[in-house]
Amino acid sequence: MFIKFLGHASLAITIENIKILVDPFVSGNPKASHIDVNTLEADYILVTHAHQDHLLDVEDIARRTNATIISNFEITNHYLEKKLTCHPMNHGGSWDFDFGKLKYTNAIHTSSFPDGSYGGQPGGFIIEGSNKTIYIAGDTALSYDMKLIPLSFNLDLAILPIGDNFTMGVDDAIFASDFIQCDKILGYHFDTFGYIEINREEAKQQFNKKGKELILLEIGEAIEL
Ligand code: NI
Ligand code: MN
Repeated sequence: MFIKFLGHASLAITIENIKILVDPFVSGNPKASHIDVNTLEADYILVTHAHQDHLLDVEDIARRTNATIISNFEITNHYLEKKLTCHPMNHGGSWDFDFGKLKYTNAIHTSSFPDGSYGGQPGGFIIEGSNKTIYIAGDTALSYDMKLIPLSFNLDLAILPIGDNFTMGVDDAIFASDFIQCDKILGYHFDTFGYIEINREEAKQQFNKKGKELILLEIGEAIEL
């Protein structure tokens, strides 16, 4: 499994030869200006919630690539009306896709579309694929529900928001890593704009002190699991 950071909360995940984009917000992110949104490949596009900083590029990419959009019922209905291919899910539900098993998890946040219309309840995803299991938390507060995850999953990596203000910050992400029993964390949702700027070195040290690893990728950089 390869995971490339595309800035903010956007990820490009490759499992075997299947391409999965998560929350594509590239064309609106000045810090990701070196990423050409028109070259991004996708068989699937996972959308955690309806905020603009998570779905800005979904429609264009889906139209160009014919990718299947996977999200909550309200978000997939929104894209079905635009004649795009979708797979609706909701919290607690799992489905076997060709890339592996996907579960839509709880998140504590909000989820309105940019025009204010209802985007369902926000979520996150767990992907079980090619012998590796990852948790993509989406925008969320620290939540006691995270303790449910290790009942069923042995996570190899968790992707957690660490930018604070709109989501968990570093301190709560460390608690979250305890709750989900995963000490290898990829941080996202930080530094894109003023409210969520962090001190990267300090954040890594805080995780280190607890015997945990915080990975912070440059935009365009990837890791292999
Ligand atoms: Ni959000
Ligand atoms: Mn966000």
